[in-house]
Amino acid sequence: MLYLGIDLGTSSIKLVVMDENGEIKASAGGEYGLSFPKPGWSEQNPSDWVTQMEASIQKLGEQINLKDIAGISFGGQMHGLVILDENDNVIRPAILWNDGRTQEECDYLNKTIGREKISAYTANMALTGFTAPKILWVKKNEPENFAKIAKIMLPKDYLAYLLSGVHCTDVSDASGMLLMDVEHKCWSKEMMELCEVKEEQLAKIFESYEVVGIIKKDVAERLGLSENVKIIAGAGDNAAGAVGTGTTKDGMCIVSLGTSGTVFVSCDKFAVDDANALHMFAHANGKYHLMGCMLSAASSNKWWMDEIIGTKEYAEEQKKIAALGGNHVYYLPYLMGERTPHNNPNARGTFTGMTMDTTRADMTQAVLEGVTFALRDSIEIARSLGVKIDRVRATGGGAKSPLWRKMLANIMNVSVEVINSEEGPGYGGAILAAVGCGAFASVEEAGDKLIRVVDVTEPDAELVAKYEKKYQVFRKLYPALQPVFDEVANI
Ligand code: XUL
Repeated sequence: MLYLGIDLGTSSIKLVVMDENGEIKASAGGEYGLSFPKPGWSEQNPSDWVTQMEASIQKLGEQINLKDIAGISFGGQMHGLVILDENDNVIRPAILWNDGRTQEECDYLNKTIGREKISAYTANMALTGFTAPKILWVKKNEPENFAKIAKIMLPKDYLAYLLSGVHCTDVSDASGMLLMDVEHKCWSKEMMELCEVKEEQLAKIFESYEVVGIIKKDVAERLGLSENVKIIAGAGDNAAGAVGTGTTKDGMCIVSLGTSGTVFVSCDKFAVDDANALHMFAHANGKYHLMGCMLSAASSNKWWMDEIIGTKEYAEEQKKIAALGGNHVYYLPYLMGERTPHNNPNARGTFTGMTMDTTRADMTQAVLEGVTFALRDSIEIARSLGVKIDRVRATGGGAKSPLWRKMLANIMNVSVEVINSEEGPGYGGAILAAVGCGAFASVEEAGDKLIRVVDVTEPDAELVAKYEKKYQVFRKLYPALQPVFDEVANI
């Protein structure tokens, strides 16, 4: 039997088909555009997702027998607002996770209502990308559209609805709406009241590995799929990505060194930090996860290499770094402001500590170390909540650098693992489909059977001690500079 995972990303859709041994049997994808109708706005047409999904299924048909697909599931871009009218037609373009138009609504939720209350209802604070502030925005700015809303959906759930006819969502993606009581995995009455939304306008919540329904007959026929295909709820892209890397047990952690940097910590227990610096979301394995997101991770290195020193030879440049632990230059990686832990769009990048003997290699090293210190901030918050983190799985482009993995190991005092799968949320979606179809007893079991560690970098006690001292200095830089950042941004 085969299992299809659909990764509904921001710029493209990627479909992967695996068998019960986790082997990839086919893959296909397609791109779509984003529109930015005003500065800071970001929208997409759900019909473009559907067109590319259907075209990609056809492309899969050239590689496998589509009738062998037993289950379909998803990993999807989170937080996007898709609104449907009473005939299930899309009312307006989807407002995406990276849309920043809702600052006023977030201020209302975090300041007027109060962050503590919002956190008590949902386990999180309001951020501009989240879904509930977008609903408030539509209510205020497009009352005619607000009046038409029969169903509020998330991007991947709209695809699941078209395939199954069921208005569904899953616990992980619904966590990012700011409408769900994450601890109890039900819609929050208080948030529904605040947003003037009724429960019947929201989708039914499923665990990520649960079957929401069987494919609609006409859809199966049109797409050449079997009439028995099960549609499984799926997960938000981060949780699906975690499933795809086997990150499902208590304390297991992914550090992703992509354009942005993510720290994703799987945890059995529900826990919220006092400042809501980390997101607390439901995980795709039936439990929870914490997540920190920094905005300029590998992109700090790209900026330094491409724009400032003008080279494409990243590895060559890193070879010039002599030894770790001795550099006295510090870098704050807040080139685009920062989300976790400071939540401050005015934060900026800085170098501190240069002397006349500072070299180009010291600066390159400082950039990589600065990003790693900033990621450790998220790890420390999770540790302060009682989660024991002693190993992380490194993913994303930056994780290909052995030097950067060595920094991760010694700055965070963890073993850094590299694994065999590089397929991301689509692969996680395929695993969820397989679990939903009964090929594995649980998401954890699937991870144990399918994901292998292929490389480990261990921390070295001496270097850990040196970096510990430097991290304590790094931690003092942002609070010292914060007032200056606000002034710099406002001049
Ligand atoms: C998660 C988040 C992004 C989106 C984009 O909170 O904003 O990871 O899901 O894919």
